[in-house]
Amino acid sequence: MIIDKVFSMKYIYTTLTMLCVLTANAQRKPIESRVDSVLTLMSLEEKVGQMNQYNGFWNATGPAPAGGDAATKYQHLRNGWVGSVLNVQGVEEVRAMQRVAVEETRLGIPLIFACDVIHGYKTLSPIPLAEAASWNLDAIEKSARNAAEEATAHGLNWTFAPMVDISRDPRWGRMMEGAGEDTYLGARVASARVQGFQGSDLSAPNTMAACAKHFAGYGFVEAGRDYNTVDVSAYTLQNVIFPPFQAAVEAGAATFMNAFNTMNGIPATGNQALIETLKETWGFQGVLVSDWGSISEMQAHGFSRNLSEATAQAANARCDIDMESLAYVYHLADLVRKGVVAQARVDDAVRRVLRLKFQLGLMDDPYKYCQNPGEWTPSSSPWAEDAQNLAEESAVLLKNKGILPIVKGQRIALIGPMAAEKNSPLGNWRVSSEDHTAISLQEGLRSVKGFKSLDVAAGPVFLTGAINFPTEASINTSDTAGLFQAVRSASAADVAILAVGEHGFQSGEGRSRLSLHLPGLQELLIREVLKVQPHVVLVVYAGRPFILPEDIQAQVEGILFAWQPGTMGGPAIANLLMGRRSPSGRLPVTFPRSEAQIPLYYGAYNTGRPGPISEVFWSHYGDGPNTPQYPFGYGLTYSTVSYSKTELVTLEDGTLALNATVSNTGKVEVDEVVQVYMRDHHSAYGVRPLKQLIDFRRIAIKAGETKSFTFILEMDQLSVTDAQGEKHVEPGIFSFWIAPNSVEGVPATMDWKIE
Ligand code: NOJ
Repeated sequence: MIIDKVFSMKYIYTTLTMLCVLTANAQRKPIESRVDSVLTLMSLEEKVGQMNQYNGFWNATGPAPAGGDAATKYQHLRNGWVGSVLNVQGVEEVRAMQRVAVEETRLGIPLIFACDVIHGYKTLSPIPLAEAASWNLDAIEKSARNAAEEATAHGLNWTFAPMVDISRDPRWGRMMEGAGEDTYLGARVASARVQGFQGSDLSAPNTMAACAKHFAGYGFVEAGRDYNTVDVSAYTLQNVIFPPFQAAVEAGAATFMNAFNTMNGIPATGNQALIETLKETWGFQGVLVSDWGSISEMQAHGFSRNLSEATAQAANARCDIDMESLAYVYHLADLVRKGVVAQARVDDAVRRVLRLKFQLGLMDDPYKYCQNPGEWTPSSSPWAEDAQNLAEESAVLLKNKGILPIVKGQRIALIGPMAAEKNSPLGNWRVSSEDHTAISLQEGLRSVKGFKSLDVAAGPVFLTGAINFPTEASINTSDTAGLFQAVRSASAADVAILAVGEHGFQSGEGRSRLSLHLPGLQELLIREVLKVQPHVVLVVYAGRPFILPEDIQAQVEGILFAWQPGTMGGPAIANLLMGRRSPSGRLPVTFPRSEAQIPLYYGAYNTGRPGPISEVFWSHYGDGPNTPQYPFGYGLTYSTVSYSKTELVTLEDGTLALNATVSNTGKVEVDEVVQVYMRDHHSAYGVRPLKQLIDFRRIAIKAGETKSFTFILEMDQLSVTDAQGEKHVEPGIFSFWIAPNSVEGVPATMDWKIE
């Protein structure tokens, strides 16, 4: 029986090769030599297989797929032509698929299981932009740590996070996934998130590989339209876009992901110069994965004639893994045989993938991430408390004319589409969190109590169709049913809390918006309520800055910006509204007055005509102000806090430092985010922004307490990177100031000369 013979030959060969791998493993050689041992056993097709990543294509605990694309992919898996998968979830599924890779392929190399674990697995923290608003790096790191713990217990070992794209355009739906507009804050958050996901030991069963994405420039898509062209200067790339990615490399990020967009006219996935910066200049040793289909999309960009050419361009640019373009698996081996792609290039990519598998410990125990995850509902999970804490710390109090915290014993009308909403607060990246599992604001308020009565009315229906990850949200703009009841409820109350905003599925990938106004009939709802009830506080749920018309802005007595606060949003926001804790979040992004001002960001350059002057010849609009509605770094608390003047001092050892005192002059303890800004007045290497965040500290200050702050100035903070990537520190006039946000504070200025 030939088949039997072939089978048994293959079996013997497989057993022998695996024995080699296991022996190498058992000897605990350094990872590099173990990688080499495996590499020498691999055929070209098997090497290419390690560079191929598929989306989960079949229910792995059920029968093998019998036909169609899934059957082909299944065969590829058994051939050893798949190195990693994404979106396979749950211990059973992971184990079943891993078993095929380990037991049925010739070399038995385990798969890596990847997923977008962005702000939690089942227990969801606030969305990343919200987390950044906490300016609490320890809590942000812990949040990523918690996400890794929960996700790894369910079999995952690679997350496509953190997104470290700086963005200045809130029309772009993916602003929700990053840390906002500021490079310095973005770099600090990037590093905290990488450390959180990866911990200090990537091989531990509760840590996972992080992925800094999207390299690079995706946050600068023109007009804020997702997947659009990017056209930025080399200077912006170096000074604004790159630093968070560099911070991720320095923090040890195991992987990076290409961006969808072009950079200098070349799609990022096939952009040799861009990737050279990552792998050569910065010395990144990890894995670079394409974004979903981004190799194939180089054809639509007009860069590649066909998929084979796209394969060569991506591989030669040093993209290590093809996510779902089916490019490498079908074309790469041929291209190597034809000499279009060097064997060494493939070996380098495979080395990187295998190294990661060793680092994760998968080569020693392919099932190590499949711990028993335990049983809990998201809100009773071991990470719920941290998630709630971050939801509390990230909410930003934008306006308060004495309405907050809500005075005890009042009749509250809780009105609006987000009042009892359990789905939207989860955001759009919810991985394994089931729909409708957030604790709503209504539930939160009922658990916190402190009011005489709570009447809940949704107002006009918000959504007119199904809402989920791939579907465009359809919003009611005409049916006013429910409005009357909401207004009646407001008029019968002492205070109205209006829970409004955009749906969690209105921000995120593919969810750009032309308007930042509250969608649907919500502005109408607010205006109608204001006619009968003067005491109105808005709680706004959104994944990006929003714009409120002037009349509403002027009339409402309070605005609390809650973002998409995650699983525990309800109790968190209720705690803030009822004064159990003071709001403390600060905006990581500028809120414009009009979409026409975009891009509007605090770190702008002075221009040659800053004005104002009486004639029109200065940089301004004739029909509206340049200034934002709410500036970067802004946020109120339930106390009053005053800052002293900033003093610039030289310490005994010659270092420069900034001193200031911060006093809580109010009646409650608050967490204050003390921010340090700088201006470099003249730079021959490239003009510097009017304001540049260079440091910050989040600190609790008791009522009546004064705290002194000293910030040491590092030379690196004074540096500028030129368009070629060279760093320079140039003497000259510098101003520094310590402030509660980006528009306050009095600068201390020095003329720094080299003796
Ligand atoms: C496309 C997104 O751009 C990327 O961020 C994500 O990680 C992949 N899809 C995988 O889901």
